[in-house]
Amino acid sequence: MAATTSITPAAKIRNFTYAIRNIVVEAKKVEAAGRRVRYLNIGDPIPFGFKTPPHLVEAVAKAMRDGHNGYAPSAGIEPVREIVAAEYERRGMPVGADRVILTSGTSEGIELALGALAEAGDEVLVPTPTYPLYTAVLAKLAAKAVYYRTDPSQDWLPDVDDIKRLITPATRALVLIDPNNPTGAVYPEATRRALIELASRAGIPILADEVYSELGFEGHTPLLGSLEPDAPILSFSSLSKAYLAPGWRAGWLAVGRSDRLDDVLAAIKKLADGRLCSPGPMQHAIGAALSGDRSHQRDFVKALQVRAGLTMTRLNAIPGITCVAPKAAFYVMPKVELPAGKTDEDFVLGLLRATGILCVYGSGFGMPAKDGFFRVVFLATPEELGSIYDDLAAFTSSFVSA
Ligand SMILES: Cc1ncc(COP(=O)(O)O)c(C=O)c1O
Repeated sequence: MAATTSITPAAKIRNFTYAIRNIVVEAKKVEAAGRRVRYLNIGDPIPFGFKTPPHLVEAVAKAMRDGHNGYAPSAGIEPVREIVAAEYERRGMPVGADRVILTSGTSEGIELALGALAEAGDEVLVPTPTYPLYTAVLAKLAAKAVYYRTDPSQDWLPDVDDIKRLITPATRALVLIDPNNPTGAVYPEATRRALIELASRAGIPILADEVYSELGFEGHTPLLGSLEPDAPILSFSSLSKAYLAPGWRAGWLAVGRSDRLDDVLAAIKKLADGRLCSPGPMQHAIGAALSGDRSHQRDFVKALQVRAGLTMTRLNAIPGITCVAPKAAFYVMPKVELPAGKTDEDFVLGLLRATGILCVYGSGFGMPAKDGFFRVVFLATPEELGSIYDDLAAFTSSFVSA
């Protein structure tokens, strides 16, 4: 006779949360009730009309036509690893191609690095607010995310003293997201140097998430490793943001040249063997992206600046909302003054149900729910954003006075 009790998943998956996508369940209910949802939850430029550069599309199509449809080597195809290494060298963080791994997006680089570094019970320093994949992967590893503060009154800069206090013998890595999602912050050189110094002394590797480094409004953000090429730094990036191809899952990681990282590199390669390879034809597009024309970035960044300016003017004009200006990418993290007893989730779900605008609550990024932060993705057209901010203002007025 067949057993009828349900099969239980692993308990640790309870802590695997990814609010950016989890909240879509609520949006679908709103859509099912007949209201149009305006999705400002995911940082994907494509649904907002931005186009993948044609030479990248052609590189993938050509790779497929030329028969590159088999498994690639686990670390990625050699000529493309060399192009990535040359890009790192050009940007001041010299690494050999043997220290570059091609990955399924930045996400897989994060997963490989955390998997290679953290045991169950180990600690990894993660910013608040954070990009939530870090905490989700740590939950999967049964390791512990230890939050360090970034401060909205200081342009969302990391609090270096807070980080110093949080380091323990169990600390295995420091995560730095710069330029930052969800805050749009770009860290000044002095802060970056202080963090490198701190991590180097403590013998802790820095996981440098640099997926937005080419989307700064004041120009490219230097690679963290360019400040100190011998520091224990692992850098991640991809084609998802600055090359407008997020669905391709084409990314890379570079392990700094310090021999202190050799064993970690070997562990990452071992893990990479187990997942066979990242998508092969898309690896060819990485080569085309990093050795070809990047003029699309000028137009993209210009468009982002216009939207950032509009977003700042409109959000800061709403009574009860304050917002720190972003310096890169396409996110802001405004704060709403919550009425007593309300949470950021109450605000975001209320906004969704009343207006169809879908943002993500700050607690999904590790912020206290009572602090009233929420994240806005400002990729929509200025006209669309204008109408969104009209509705947001009207809803906020009724919410804060309720
Ligand atoms: C800071 C940060 N890291 C990593 C990722 C994941 O990027 P990818 O598409 O390259 O996996 C994102 C996506 O939004 C991100 O914002």
